[in-house]
Amino acid sequence: MLPQEAIRAKRDGQCLDAVTIRDLVAGISDGGLGDAQVGALAMAIYLRGMDAAETVALTEAIRDSGEVLDWSGLDLPGPVLDKHSTGGVGDLVSLVLGPWVAACGGHVPMISGRGLGHTGGTLDKLEAIPGYSVTPDTATFRRLVKDVGVAIIGQTSELAPADKRLYAVRDVTATVESLPLIVSSILGKKLACGLDALVMDVKVGSGAFMPTPEASRELAETIAEVASRAGTPTTALLTDMSQPLAPCAGNAVEVREALAVLTGERRDGRLLEVTRTLAAEMLMVGGLAADRPSALARLDERLASGAAAERFARMVAGLGGPADLLEAADRHLPTAPVVREIRAERSGYLRAFDTRALGMAVVELGGGRRAPGDAIDPAVGLADIAALGERVAAGQPLAMIHARSEPEAERAERQFLAALEIGETALAEPTLIHDIIR
Ligand code: URA
Repeated sequence: MLPQEAIRAKRDGQCLDAVTIRDLVAGISDGGLGDAQVGALAMAIYLRGMDAAETVALTEAIRDSGEVLDWSGLDLPGPVLDKHSTGGVGDLVSLVLGPWVAACGGHVPMISGRGLGHTGGTLDKLEAIPGYSVTPDTATFRRLVKDVGVAIIGQTSELAPADKRLYAVRDVTATVESLPLIVSSILGKKLACGLDALVMDVKVGSGAFMPTPEASRELAETIAEVASRAGTPTTALLTDMSQPLAPCAGNAVEVREALAVLTGERRDGRLLEVTRTLAAEMLMVGGLAADRPSALARLDERLASGAAAERFARMVAGLGGPADLLEAADRHLPTAPVVREIRAERSGYLRAFDTRALGMAVVELGGGRRAPGDAIDPAVGLADIAALGERVAAGQPLAMIHARSEPEAERAERQFLAALEIGETALAEPTLIHDIIR
């Protein structure tokens, strides 16, 4: 079918068959479709939607538009697993989870992204480690996935190239917010990594990508269904993003937090709880544990024994970072010249955060990008952020700002205080894990 006829059919509300969808995606990859046609197709899908079969076909076509990683030749002793998050603030789950699952027998080829909007990016965090390369050659990547069990690296141009073009067109044609387009974009890239199973972390709350809890749930349910129908068993979790997940947000500050969790210095908190729950689901969906209690027991043992920390250290060294990061983090990780407290202006209970605004405050400190291609300042950010539900007295510290200059610290302080609601009465603490969709 001619592209314009397929676009017309979708515009008029018809369902497209898998062959037509595959042809359209081939045209997106090889330039057979012009930008106007890609934009019109995206808008037709945005307005008319796609049913589950169409979304599966679109996902598979995007997955197959470039290289699909094949691990079969390596004779791996365990399953190839991954996790993907819709992104958040203080969400450094990947840094802890990848090595932790590797220590339990999984192989995690994690292709991660950079900060987007108010959310931090795993690659930007890892690049706070001097020498860490997110673009290793293929042989190094494969060797680390085989021998260490985990390698966290950046997207290559060979993986799912159709998504790169389609996303760029969506970005400028007001068609990002479409469920089938979001699902196929996320899954097309992830499933190109040759996974045996996937776990999705879909965030809910004021720092989440999706605007409402209902939209987050619909995304989680659709992802679990579409990925499973495309041949990759997938579990989706709905987790809280109504406050930063870790008590910090930035790049080096989040690497420090990852080390604190991996080395057992931090033994509780929301980050650990969400990471442990996601990791348990990965072990179960990947066939490494029969049930949740045995998955958790294995995870707890591997964390306490230092095996997870050891995998992280080997991954960092294998990708060019310092061999002694665990022992000498203070020597290697950058620090900001200005570090100062933010104090509560009044007494009361912490009732709500505008988590998106906190993320933007970190971006403005230099911890994220204002424009594509901007350099990141790895040293800046927020640390020791108080948690929702806490009672604070006037003058009590609510967070530490790590900034490049005093004026930047002052601006971040104003933004932080404006993003926080303190009231006379406490609200119930937000639910951390809303649901697990299998
Ligand atoms: N993340 C993606 O990779 N694609 C989308 O469409 C939205 C978020």
